[in-house]
Amino acid sequence: MIATKIASVALFSCFLFSCGEVVTAGAAGDPDASGVDVDSGVVDVTASYDDPAIQDLLNLPDPAISYEPELPTHFLGADVSGLDNTGANTISDNGATLGRVLFYDTLLSFNETISCSSCHKAASGFADPTVLSDGFGGGVTGRNSMAIVNLRYYQNGKMFWDERADSVEHQVLMPIQDSVEMGMALNDLVLRLQNTEHYPILFELAFGDSEVTSDRISLALGQFVRSMVSTGSRYDDAIVAGGNPMGPFSGFTQAENQGKGLFFGPPEMGGAGCAGCHMAPPPNLAIFQPGRALNNGIVNASDSDQGLGDVSGVTADDGLFKVPSLRNIGKTAPYMHNGSKASLMDVVEHYNSGILAHPNLDPRLKDGTGAPIQLNLSEEDKAALVAFLGTLTDTTMLSAEKFSSPFR
Ligand code: HEC
Ligand code: HEC
Repeated sequence: MIATKIASVALFSCFLFSCGEVVTAGAAGDPDASGVDVDSGVVDVTASYDDPAIQDLLNLPDPAISYEPELPTHFLGADVSGLDNTGANTISDNGATLGRVLFYDTLLSFNETISCSSCHKAASGFADPTVLSDGFGGGVTGRNSMAIVNLRYYQNGKMFWDERADSVEHQVLMPIQDSVEMGMALNDLVLRLQNTEHYPILFELAFGDSEVTSDRISLALGQFVRSMVSTGSRYDDAIVAGGNPMGPFSGFTQAENQGKGLFFGPPEMGGAGCAGCHMAPPPNLAIFQPGRALNNGIVNASDSDQGLGDVSGVTADDGLFKVPSLRNIGKTAPYMHNGSKASLMDVVEHYNSGILAHPNLDPRLKDGTGAPIQLNLSEEDKAALVAFLGTLTDTTMLSAEKFSSPFR
């Protein structure tokens, strides 16, 4: 354990995390029965975004930008709200604003060169256009960076390709401490932030007093990444305009509608069967993500990376990987946990003719003999699928001020 007492009031806390897995430093606020700091939102009137210590560095309005998402009707049903993994860390405008500053701040890495946004770039759908990402010290990550979008609707709440983080709160502290990514000990980060002029003010606005703790860093980053909800793609616009999901959308091109039919159509009806794995259970039309990890034949059984199986130790989990949301997928190339597919056309060709055999390959991707399926799509079908996936890009979200860098 690397954490030390940093102040006389410091308490060692394991409220959010199982002790020993993630090192937390510093004191948390009053835990409620669920064990989560609940004093966020209690704002001391003396702290203000107008403080020159903030305004010299950060372009933040007073009051904070609203992080309340404006959810369209297809997000309002229990089929969507029932998936929400927010728990006790409800999003406040000041909490998410602090998370936004932290997300874009290179102070979070050992040598102050790397921020979360170095590997999660807005223009790339909050993923990274390289196969593997550069860390703070010249090393590269072991897997492709994951897009950040609609994380709050991943039902089992687990994060990373292999689901090794139990929650968003648990996940956000891991890249900071990762020896390749940011290389920062949490207690050093707490001291570093406490010694700035602006962070104590931002923590006071978010949590009611100026104390910087690793629990609060986790809560604020968790609020920010959970607030990154996409509801404004052309697909959403068509649903909001009353488009019948089973028929063609009037705002779509012929190719996009053909691709939509293939995406949602089951293979036995001439479709490509994508929705069977990439949508939350029907009647859900909003969430382009299932609730758990699956095996789509990207690796065979001898690959050194078996995803969930390496974490759980269960053979039946070998080759299973978290399925990221397909929202903004047109922006997040390269694809898959290993970045092995350079384009969406390569992804479609994978399902068409390139699925690898694996003992745990999902039955939906096997033919009657147990071999990987071949979809036998025409070139036109493949292009149509790619065109449909492009309708899931949400330029409003990707260019929103509240998700952009606040640094001047
Ligand atoms: C050096 C590059 C890098 C940096 C810096 C980085 N990440 Fe990541 N991030 C990745 C990679 C790579 C993955 C996938 C790793 C894996 O699954 O093994 C990932 C995964 C994630 C996920 C999981 C998404 C999901 O759907 O499960 C979240 C959330 C995330 N990062 C947030 C952050 C935050 C917050 C920070 C800053 C504190 C950060 N990342 C810093 C590269 C980076
Ligand atoms: C049996 C379930 C299943 C089916 C069917 C399926 N997928 Fe996937 N898909 C997955 C899994 C699992 C992953 C992540 C695998 C990995 O990274 O190792 C994935 C990943 C993807 C990705 C890359 C996501 C990213 O962020 O890198 C795209 C794009 C995609 N699938 C599109 C499709 C399309 C298009 C179809 C229909 C032709 C389809 N999928 C059918 C399970 C499935």
